[in-house]
Amino acid sequence: MASSADVQRGLQDVVALESRLCFIDGKLGRLIYQGYDIRDLAERSTFEEVAYLLWYGKLPTGPELSDLTSRLGALRTLPPALAEMIDRFPADANPMDVLRCAVSALGLYEPAETQPGPHAISGALRLTATMPSILGQFHRRRKGLPPLKPRPDLSHAAYLIYALLDRVPTGPETRAMDVDLILHADHELNASTFAARVTASTLSDLYSAVTSAVGALKGPLHGGAAERVVDLLQVIRTPDRAAEVVHSKLVRHERIMGFGHRVYKVEDPRATILREWSRRLGEAKGDLHYYELLRKLEEVVHREKGLYPNVDLYSGSVYALFGIPTDLFTPIFAVSRVTGWTAHVLEEYEDLRLIRPMAKYVGTVDLPYVPIGQRT
Ligand code: SDX
Repeated sequence: MASSADVQRGLQDVVALESRLCFIDGKLGRLIYQGYDIRDLAERSTFEEVAYLLWYGKLPTGPELSDLTSRLGALRTLPPALAEMIDRFPADANPMDVLRCAVSALGLYEPAETQPGPHAISGALRLTATMPSILGQFHRRRKGLPPLKPRPDLSHAAYLIYALLDRVPTGPETRAMDVDLILHADHELNASTFAARVTASTLSDLYSAVTSAVGALKGPLHGGAAERVVDLLQVIRTPDRAAEVVHSKLVRHERIMGFGHRVYKVEDPRATILREWSRRLGEAKGDLHYYELLRKLEEVVHREKGLYPNVDLYSGSVYALFGIPTDLFTPIFAVSRVTGWTAHVLEEYEDLRLIRPMAKYVGTVDLPYVPIGQRT
């Protein structure tokens, strides 16, 4: 039986496996995908290039990137039966629940992609290509917008905005979303990726693994934080109220969403980049309200609690500047992270080991069995 000294609650600091995909230096605040620093990728790459990097272990050549881009564009159309199923979901459903159900259902129409092994890469492309279509199908219907057109001509970032807002985004908007998707693509063994790997480690299929991951990402301690950051900003309203609102939450031992991280002990490098995009886009749109509130919130939370911002602090302010509703923020996180999830599933299939930690039993033992007629 495991001793109490062995218990690492939340598996904190437990090294569960070896991976080539992502390295996080929590002390220096560095993030690396397959050898490349996230700052270089955010500055010089596109989301499609990063997806290729995660799946194939190298940055694509020009022809390889064109091939991937056209394959993703061609895969955007949903199976008609799936589109009809989404149309019958309750209009007030949580979009993360819609995503979880639709991802799971999509596997029913692609049985060949549900076999564990390297050919599951075609399922990775299909899931990546269709997630914006799933969200667009649901959101357009609940808003009474015209039906989605495939638009293979648009980049992934531009198509995501088109799918949700029924308009082709500007150049700066497209680049801001592209960088946001790059920053959210992978993050080592975060909770949702670990959920995907646990599922894959049983030799279950890619669609089941991604369904597990979507369920995990929904939680406010993980992917659901960005939405709650904007809710908090709506409570704070003006920078001079930030200290009072933060204090009232801390005295109730409530978490301030968008701050703190299990691994980073300094600023999350993704927050650094998103802070700049929040400012840049806010200036371009003449609306720095959220950006200024967030800067003040950062100052107060660091002074009161010594915490740094994580990836979720500024991402919502970028989405809000596009006019994207808050309940689509976490689904956008999933639109990007599906590349990391599927890359980890493929890596698990390559060198499979059933993931099965232990629990320290703290219950009683050797109780005498009492027949039901004698129980009180
Ligand atoms: C993501 O793992 C990943 O990589 C995730 C992610 C990814 O890319 O996949 O980076 C994405 O999930 C980012 C995190 C988004 N979540 C939030 O912003 C929610 C708010 N953050 C916290 O819930 C918290 O910081 C966690 C969950 C992110 C990490 O928490 P830990 O490592 O379990 O730390 P803890 O809860 O044990 O807290 C340690 C101390 C506590 O103080 P004491 O009670 O011991 O005095 O720090 C405090 C906590 O109270 N603390 C916070 C806080 N985060 C930690 N206090 C107030 N607000 C916070 N946000």
